[in-house]
Amino acid sequence: MQNYSSRSLKALSIAQLESDEIAKYLENSFQQRTSETFSTTKDWNQFYTTKQNKFFKNRYNLRYFFPELLPAGVEPHTWHPPVQWQGQKCVEPPSLEELKSRQHIIVLELGCGVGNSIFPLIRANPSLFVFGIDFSEEAIRLLRDNVEYDSRRIYAFVADTAKDEQKICQVIPLHSVDYVTLFWTLSAQFPQEMNGTVELAQKLLKPGTGKVLFRDYAFGDLTQIRQHPKNCIDRNLYLRGDGTLAYYFTESFLQSLFPSSHWKTLELKTHTKAVVNRKENKNMTRRWLQAKFLLVSNQTTQQ
Ligand SMILES: C[S@@+](CC[C@H](N)C(=O)[O-])C[C@H]1O[C@@H](n2cnc3c(N)ncnc32)[C@H](O)[C@@H]1O
Repeated sequence: MQNYSSRSLKALSIAQLESDEIAKYLENSFQQRTSETFSTTKDWNQFYTTKQNKFFKNRYNLRYFFPELLPAGVEPHTWHPPVQWQGQKCVEPPSLEELKSRQHIIVLELGCGVGNSIFPLIRANPSLFVFGIDFSEEAIRLLRDNVEYDSRRIYAFVADTAKDEQKICQVIPLHSVDYVTLFWTLSAQFPQEMNGTVELAQKLLKPGTGKVLFRDYAFGDLTQIRQHPKNCIDRNLYLRGDGTLAYYFTESFLQSLFPSSHWKTLELKTHTKAVVNRKENKNMTRRWLQAKFLLVSNQTTQQ
Protein backbone atom coordinates (compact mmCIF):
# COMPACT_ATOMS: atom_id res chain seq x y z
CA MET A 1 0.00 0.00 0.00
CA GLN A 2 1.18 3.48 -0.78
CA ASN A 3 2.37 5.32 2.29
CA TYR A 4 -0.35 7.83 3.12
CA SER A 5 -0.20 10.35 5.91
CA SER A 6 -2.88 12.80 6.94
CA ARG A 7 -0.50 15.56 5.78
CA SER A 8 -0.18 14.17 2.27
CA LEU A 9 -3.94 13.64 2.04
CA LYS A 10 -5.53 16.97 1.34
CA ALA A 11 -8.98 17.25 -0.24
CA LEU A 12 -9.84 13.96 -1.97
CA SER A 13 -11.51 13.43 -5.32
CA ILE A 14 -14.58 11.21 -5.68
CA ALA A 15 -12.41 8.50 -7.26
CA GLN A 16 -10.08 8.60 -4.25
CA LEU A 17 -13.03 8.52 -1.84
CA GLU A 18 -14.22 5.35 -3.56
CA SER A 19 -10.80 3.74 -3.31
CA ASP A 20 -10.65 0.91 -0.77
CA GLU A 21 -7.00 1.64 -0.12
CA ILE A 22 -7.65 5.16 1.07
CA ALA A 23 -10.78 4.14 2.98
CA LYS A 24 -8.72 1.49 4.79
CA TYR A 25 -6.04 4.00 5.66
CA LEU A 26 -8.62 6.43 7.03
CA GLU A 27 -10.48 3.77 9.00
CA ASN A 28 -7.27 2.33 10.46
CA SER A 29 -5.96 5.69 11.49
CA PHE A 30 -9.15 6.43 13.41
CA GLN A 31 -10.00 2.97 14.66
CA GLN A 32 -9.48 4.05 18.28
CA ARG A 33 -12.22 6.66 17.96
CA THR A 34 -15.54 4.96 18.54
CA SER A 35 -18.98 6.38 19.23
CA GLU A 36 -18.36 6.14 22.99
CA THR A 37 -15.60 8.71 22.65
CA PHE A 38 -18.00 11.36 21.44
CA SER A 39 -21.12 12.93 22.83
CA THR A 40 -22.87 14.44 19.85
CA THR A 41 -25.82 15.51 22.08
CA LYS A 42 -23.55 17.91 23.97
CA ASP A 43 -22.04 19.18 20.73
CA TRP A 44 -25.40 19.83 19.04
CA ASN A 45 -26.58 21.58 22.20
CA GLN A 46 -23.49 23.79 22.11
CA PHE A 47 -24.11 24.38 18.39
CA TYR A 48 -27.62 25.76 19.06
CA THR A 49 -26.48 27.70 22.14
CA THR A 50 -23.98 29.53 19.95
CA LYS A 51 -25.87 29.80 16.67
CA GLN A 52 -29.41 30.01 18.13
CA ASN A 53 -31.90 29.67 15.25
CA LYS A 54 -29.80 31.69 12.81
CA PHE A 55 -27.74 28.94 11.13
CA PHE A 56 -30.14 26.89 9.01
CA LYS A 57 -32.62 28.64 6.73
CA ASN A 58 -36.26 27.57 6.48
CA ARG A 59 -36.47 24.70 4.01
CA TYR A 60 -39.27 25.94 1.73
CA ASN A 61 -38.09 23.72 -1.13
CA LEU A 62 -39.30 20.65 0.78
CA ARG A 63 -42.71 21.61 -0.64
CA TYR A 64 -41.35 20.81 -4.13
CA PHE A 65 -39.53 17.64 -3.10
CA PHE A 66 -42.39 16.20 -1.03
CA PRO A 67 -45.70 17.44 -2.50
CA GLU A 68 -47.54 14.68 -0.60
CA LEU A 69 -47.20 16.95 2.45
CA LEU A 70 -49.27 19.68 0.77
CA PRO A 71 -53.06 19.77 0.54
CA ALA A 72 -54.47 18.61 -2.81
CA GLY A 73 -54.47 21.45 -5.34
CA VAL A 74 -51.92 23.63 -3.52
CA GLU A 75 -48.87 24.40 -5.67
CA PRO A 76 -45.42 24.22 -4.04
CA HIS A 77 -44.58 27.83 -5.03
CA THR A 78 -47.71 29.32 -3.39
CA TRP A 79 -46.82 31.82 -0.66
CA HIS A 80 -48.31 31.22 2.79
CA PRO A 81 -48.12 33.76 5.63
CA PRO A 82 -46.23 32.80 8.79
CA VAL A 83 -48.36 31.46 11.62
CA GLN A 84 -48.70 33.97 14.49
CA TRP A 85 -49.68 31.88 17.48
CA GLN A 86 -50.70 33.95 20.46
CA GLY A 87 -52.34 31.23 22.49
CA GLN A 88 -50.89 29.24 25.34
CA LYS A 89 -47.81 27.06 24.85
CA CYS A 90 -49.17 23.62 25.59
CA VAL A 91 -46.84 21.38 27.56
CA GLU A 92 -48.92 18.21 27.27
CA PRO A 93 -48.95 16.11 24.10
CA PRO A 94 -52.34 15.64 22.40
CA SER A 95 -54.06 12.29 22.73
CA LEU A 96 -54.60 10.14 19.64
CA GLU A 97 -58.39 10.61 20.04
CA GLU A 98 -57.87 14.36 19.97
CA LEU A 99 -55.76 14.11 16.80
CA LYS A 100 -58.21 11.75 15.11
CA SER A 101 -61.19 13.96 15.93
CA ARG A 102 -59.45 16.86 14.18
CA GLN A 103 -58.64 14.65 11.16
CA HIS A 104 -55.00 15.59 11.10
CA ILE A 105 -52.29 14.06 8.96
CA ILE A 106 -49.67 13.14 11.53
CA VAL A 107 -46.04 13.90 10.71
CA LEU A 108 -43.10 13.05 12.94
CA GLU A 109 -39.85 14.91 12.33
CA LEU A 110 -36.92 13.04 13.81
CA GLY A 111 -34.05 15.42 14.59
CA CYS A 112 -36.21 18.51 14.06
CA GLY A 113 -33.64 21.08 15.24
CA VAL A 114 -35.21 24.53 15.62
CA GLY A 115 -38.05 23.84 13.16
CA ASN A 116 -36.64 24.91 9.78
CA SER A 117 -38.49 22.05 8.11
CA ILE A 118 -41.57 22.09 10.35
CA PHE A 119 -42.60 25.73 9.95
CA PRO A 120 -42.71 25.87 6.12
CA LEU A 121 -44.84 22.73 6.06
CA ILE A 122 -47.19 23.85 8.84
CA ARG A 123 -47.76 27.14 7.01
CA ALA A 124 -48.63 25.39 3.75
CA ASN A 125 -50.88 22.64 5.09
CA PRO A 126 -53.45 23.39 7.84
CA SER A 127 -54.23 19.66 8.13
CA LEU A 128 -50.80 18.69 9.44
CA PHE A 129 -50.05 17.91 13.06
CA VAL A 130 -46.29 17.65 13.55
CA PHE A 131 -44.46 15.91 16.37
CA GLY A 132 -40.84 17.09 16.55
CA ILE A 133 -38.08 15.26 18.39
CA ASP A 134 -34.52 16.43 18.94
CA PHE A 135 -31.93 15.40 21.52
CA SER A 136 -30.75 19.01 21.93
CA GLU A 137 -32.64 20.74 24.75
CA GLU A 138 -31.58 24.11 23.39
CA ALA A 139 -33.01 23.33 19.93
CA ILE A 140 -36.37 22.33 21.45
CA ARG A 141 -36.40 25.43 23.67
CA LEU A 142 -35.81 27.68 20.63
CA LEU A 143 -38.44 25.85 18.60
CA ARG A 144 -41.06 26.16 21.35
CA ASP A 145 -40.26 29.85 21.84
CA ASN A 146 -40.89 30.60 18.15
CA VAL A 147 -44.08 32.60 17.53
CA GLU A 148 -44.94 30.06 14.82
CA TYR A 149 -45.08 27.27 17.41
CA ASP A 150 -48.84 26.77 17.38
CA SER A 151 -49.50 24.28 20.18
CA ARG A 152 -52.63 23.03 18.45
CA ARG A 153 -50.51 21.79 15.53
CA ILE A 154 -47.00 21.10 16.85
CA TYR A 155 -45.69 19.14 19.82
CA ALA A 156 -41.91 19.08 20.15
CA PHE A 157 -39.92 17.35 22.86
CA VAL A 158 -36.41 16.27 23.81
CA ALA A 159 -35.40 12.65 23.15
CA ASP A 160 -32.71 10.63 21.42
CA THR A 161 -34.24 8.92 18.39
CA ALA A 162 -31.69 6.11 18.52
CA LYS A 163 -31.95 5.37 22.26
CA ASP A 164 -35.16 6.69 23.84
CA GLU A 165 -37.77 4.47 22.21
CA GLN A 166 -39.71 3.89 25.44
CA LYS A 167 -39.94 7.58 26.30
CA ILE A 168 -40.98 8.46 22.73
CA CYS A 169 -43.65 5.74 22.56
CA GLN A 170 -45.23 7.13 25.73
CA VAL A 171 -45.90 10.38 23.86
CA ILE A 172 -46.63 9.13 20.34
CA PRO A 173 -48.95 6.12 20.03
CA LEU A 174 -47.65 3.08 18.12
CA HIS A 175 -48.74 2.83 14.44
CA SER A 176 -50.28 6.32 14.49
CA VAL A 177 -47.98 8.34 12.25
CA ASP A 178 -48.60 9.02 8.54
CA TYR A 179 -45.15 10.39 7.65
CA VAL A 180 -41.78 10.22 9.40
CA THR A 181 -39.46 12.87 8.00
CA LEU A 182 -35.68 12.49 8.11
CA PHE A 183 -34.26 15.73 6.79
CA TRP A 184 -30.48 15.98 7.32
CA THR A 185 -30.85 14.00 10.54
CA LEU A 186 -29.40 10.56 9.83
CA SER A 187 -26.23 12.23 8.51
CA ALA A 188 -25.78 13.67 12.02
CA GLN A 189 -25.73 10.17 13.54
CA PHE A 190 -23.22 7.35 13.73
CA PRO A 191 -24.04 4.60 11.21
CA GLN A 192 -24.52 2.20 14.16
CA GLU A 193 -27.26 4.50 15.55
CA MET A 194 -29.13 4.91 12.28
CA ASN A 195 -30.75 1.47 12.61
CA GLY A 196 -32.25 2.48 15.97
CA THR A 197 -33.78 5.57 14.38
CA VAL A 198 -35.23 3.57 11.47
CA GLU A 199 -36.63 0.95 13.90
CA LEU A 200 -38.36 3.76 15.81
CA ALA A 201 -39.96 4.95 12.55
CA GLN A 202 -41.09 1.38 11.92
CA LYS A 203 -42.83 1.21 15.32
CA LEU A 204 -44.63 4.54 14.99
CA LEU A 205 -45.74 4.57 11.34
CA LYS A 206 -49.09 3.15 10.21
CA PRO A 207 -48.27 -0.19 8.54
CA GLY A 208 -49.47 -0.36 4.94
CA THR A 209 -49.71 3.41 4.41
CA GLY A 210 -47.05 5.13 6.57
CA LYS A 211 -44.01 6.51 4.77
CA VAL A 212 -40.52 7.73 5.56
CA LEU A 213 -39.50 10.82 3.60
CA PHE A 214 -35.74 11.26 3.46
CA ARG A 215 -33.43 13.96 2.11
CA ASP A 216 -29.79 14.28 3.13
CA TYR A 217 -26.18 14.61 1.92
CA ALA A 218 -25.15 12.21 -0.84
CA PHE A 219 -21.76 10.62 -1.37
CA GLY A 220 -19.43 12.94 -3.28
CA ASP A 221 -21.21 16.15 -2.27
CA LEU A 222 -19.00 19.19 -2.54
CA THR A 223 -18.93 19.50 1.27
CA GLN A 224 -17.52 15.94 1.48
CA ILE A 225 -14.83 16.73 -1.08
CA ARG A 226 -13.93 19.79 0.97
CA GLN A 227 -13.64 17.87 4.25
CA HIS A 228 -10.05 17.39 5.34
CA PRO A 229 -9.29 13.66 5.40
CA LYS A 230 -8.04 13.99 8.98
CA ASN A 231 -11.69 14.59 9.97
CA CYS A 232 -12.77 11.27 8.44
CA ILE A 233 -13.56 8.82 11.26
CA ASP A 234 -15.12 6.05 9.21
CA ARG A 235 -16.03 5.45 5.58
CA ASN A 236 -18.04 8.52 4.47
CA LEU A 237 -18.32 9.76 8.10
CA TYR A 238 -16.67 13.00 9.21
CA LEU A 239 -16.31 14.77 12.55
CA ARG A 240 -16.59 18.52 12.07
CA GLY A 241 -14.54 20.97 14.11
CA ASP A 242 -17.57 21.74 16.32
CA GLY A 243 -17.98 18.04 17.25
CA THR A 244 -21.05 17.36 15.06
CA LEU A 245 -21.06 14.55 12.49
CA ALA A 246 -21.59 14.54 8.73
CA TYR A 247 -22.30 11.26 6.96
CA TYR A 248 -22.53 11.09 3.15
CA PHE A 249 -25.02 8.49 1.86
CA THR A 250 -24.65 6.16 -1.09
CA GLU A 251 -27.92 4.80 -2.47
CA SER A 252 -26.91 1.25 -1.55
CA PHE A 253 -26.10 2.15 2.06
CA LEU A 254 -29.41 3.95 2.56
CA GLN A 255 -31.27 1.07 0.95
CA SER A 256 -29.62 -1.34 3.42
CA LEU A 257 -31.20 0.60 6.33
CA PHE A 258 -34.68 -0.10 4.90
CA PRO A 259 -34.82 -3.87 4.24
CA SER A 260 -37.46 -5.22 1.89
CA SER A 261 -38.87 -7.42 4.69
CA HIS A 262 -40.53 -4.28 6.06
CA TRP A 263 -40.14 -1.53 3.50
CA LYS A 264 -41.00 -0.89 -0.11
CA THR A 265 -38.75 1.64 -1.82
CA LEU A 266 -40.92 4.15 -3.67
CA GLU A 267 -38.12 6.50 -4.64
CA LEU A 268 -34.33 6.52 -4.21
CA LYS A 269 -32.39 9.00 -6.25
CA THR A 270 -29.27 11.13 -6.05
CA HIS A 271 -29.96 14.71 -7.11
CA THR A 272 -27.17 16.99 -8.27
CA LYS A 273 -26.72 20.68 -8.87
CA ALA A 274 -23.65 22.24 -10.50
CA VAL A 275 -22.19 25.24 -8.68
CA VAL A 276 -19.32 27.45 -9.79
CA ASN A 277 -16.69 28.55 -7.33
CA ARG A 278 -15.61 31.83 -8.95
CA LYS A 279 -12.77 32.40 -6.51
CA GLU A 280 -11.13 29.07 -7.34
CA ASN A 281 -12.52 29.05 -10.90
CA LYS A 282 -13.84 25.51 -10.36
CA ASN A 283 -17.06 23.73 -11.25
CA MET A 284 -18.34 21.76 -8.30
CA THR A 285 -21.36 19.60 -7.59
CA ARG A 286 -23.81 19.60 -4.72
CA ARG A 287 -25.34 16.15 -4.22
CA TRP A 288 -28.35 15.13 -2.18
CA LEU A 289 -30.03 11.80 -1.76
CA GLN A 290 -33.83 11.79 -1.75
CA ALA A 291 -35.88 8.73 -0.88
CA LYS A 292 -39.37 7.60 0.07
CA PHE A 293 -40.01 4.29 1.81
CA LEU A 294 -43.43 2.75 2.46
CA LEU A 295 -43.81 0.66 5.64
CA VAL A 296 -45.27 -2.55 4.28
CA SER A 297 -45.19 -4.51 7.51
CA ASN A 298 -43.90 -3.97 11.01
CA GLN A 299 -44.01 -7.65 11.94
CA THR A 300 -40.65 -9.15 12.83
CA THR A 301 -40.04 -12.25 10.72
CA GLN A 302 -40.27 -15.47 12.80
CA GLN A 303 -37.06 -17.53 12.68
C1 LIG B 1 -28.57 19.17 10.46
S1 LIG B 1 -29.74 19.30 11.76
C2 LIG B 1 -31.26 19.17 10.82
C3 LIG B 1 -32.42 19.78 11.54
C4 LIG B 1 -33.77 19.70 10.81
N1 LIG B 1 -34.13 18.34 10.47
C5 LIG B 1 -33.82 20.56 9.57
O1 LIG B 1 -34.22 20.06 8.52
O2 LIG B 1 -33.48 21.73 9.67
C6 LIG B 1 -29.64 17.68 12.52
C7 LIG B 1 -30.43 17.60 13.82
O3 LIG B 1 -30.48 16.25 14.25
C8 LIG B 1 -30.42 16.24 15.67
N2 LIG B 1 -30.01 14.88 16.05
C9 LIG B 1 -28.91 14.20 15.67
N3 LIG B 1 -28.89 12.97 16.21
C10 LIG B 1 -30.02 12.86 16.96
C11 LIG B 1 -30.56 11.82 17.76
N4 LIG B 1 -29.93 10.65 17.91
N5 LIG B 1 -31.75 12.04 18.37
C12 LIG B 1 -32.40 13.24 18.22
N6 LIG B 1 -31.93 14.25 17.49
C13 LIG B 1 -30.75 14.08 16.86
C14 LIG B 1 -29.43 17.35 16.01
O4 LIG B 1 -29.55 17.84 17.32
C15 LIG B 1 -29.82 18.40 14.96
O5 LIG B 1 -30.79 19.28 15.46
